[in-house]
Amino acid sequence: MTTSFDWERVQRTALLHDELPGELAPFVLSSGEGLRHHLGDWHVTTMARHMDTGGEFSLYRIALPGGSGSPVLSGPGHSFVHIIEGEVTLTFEGRDHCLIGGDSASIPAGVAFSLKGGATINSLFFYSTEEWLHRLASEVGESTGSHIFSRRPALAVSELLRSELVDGYGVTIHGGGESAHHGADVDRPGNHLPDGEVPFVNAAGHGDRFETFEQVNAYPVRARNTGGRFFAMDTRGAKAPYIPLHFHQEHSENFLCLGGRVKLHANGEEVILTPGDFLHAPAGTIHSFSLAANNTHMLGLLTPPVFEPFFEYMNDPTEEYVYVEGGSPHFPAAGFEKAQAELDLVVVGPPPAS
Ligand SMILES: [Fe+2]
Repeated sequence: MTTSFDWERVQRTALLHDELPGELAPFVLSSGEGLRHHLGDWHVTTMARHMDTGGEFSLYRIALPGGSGSPVLSGPGHSFVHIIEGEVTLTFEGRDHCLIGGDSASIPAGVAFSLKGGATINSLFFYSTEEWLHRLASEVGESTGSHIFSRRPALAVSELLRSELVDGYGVTIHGGGESAHHGADVDRPGNHLPDGEVPFVNAAGHGDRFETFEQVNAYPVRARNTGGRFFAMDTRGAKAPYIPLHFHQEHSENFLCLGGRVKLHANGEEVILTPGDFLHAPAGTIHSFSLAANNTHMLGLLTPPVFEPFFEYMNDPTEEYVYVEGGSPHFPAAGFEKAQAELDLVVVGPPPAS
């Protein structure tokens, strides 16, 4: 886990570009960069491992062809899935959930689930507090320079993961293999987050929603759903300037650009994220961000979830799904003061000039 010593060292570490650091450090990956493997007919890009995040999490981009489904499996650690494109059927507890772009799911440790692609190309981000998928991809999969699944794979993922090869990776395969899908018994994701650590799906734009000037901030999963391991923040907004330069001592902030453009400062360097790009800012990293294009969409993953109240301090509750453009710009200074006083937030400078 991150220690107070680590954040001081991290603060002196330059941002690494397009490679995994192999130690706790800030790094940025352009879309598609990372460690790439064919896992049967799936393509797995490992974007962060425990060694890169101080043991906090691992992160992957998975691309799967239409009709290809995993066996029913369960693994250690809490998983969070965000659909990038296509249509993915996620099955758990005997029910199918049809997920499309922007939808997400929270899967606690030990819950048996399966994933199946429904469109021609289906892509998703897979976040885990553990790293069993890294072990599987790197040792059972085949290393590749490709950024997409194979036209003619030797095996389907359901055949590969059914074999004895998965023994020893911490994954349990349930039943005879690929999930039995339930046809018409398909649920669309709901509008509200449950109270506890149960598996659930969340439709794009739903969840616990808050808004501020020209911006909607929605939680697709919260600390109460993850056993206090992490939470996610789905931000949609109009162009917005940088917030003050700051760092955190206890938690990492992880940015995934989903649409538009995000400008970030990290340890003195400015980078621009476009869709699919990822930036890991471990505790200590001096950073700020701005929404740099119209209708920018960003997913934040923050772990541990000590910063969750920040978005309630800085926003007002809403039942709306979209922000309203126009009006008088305002920065919620009172909420920001309260966050500095109560939360893991150390401000070190004004908003960077952009
Ligand atoms: Fe931050």
